[in-house]
Amino acid sequence: MTKYQCTICGYIYDPEAGDPDNGVAPGTAWEDVPEDWVCPDCGAEKEVFEAI
Ligand SMILES: [Fe+2]
Repeated sequence: MTKYQCTICGYIYDPEAGDPDNGVAPGTAWEDVPEDWVCPDCGAEKEVFEAI
């Protein structure tokens, strides 16, 4: 699965790890991450993330 990086702070969303602290289970593809999810490090919205 494709990883996505926050273009503001550099945080990387890894689908294999998810973001369980913020309600996104491990194994959640980027497309399935809720639209209201925000970067756990800087609070940026999904739209600023780019595939890496
Ligand atoms: Fe960020």
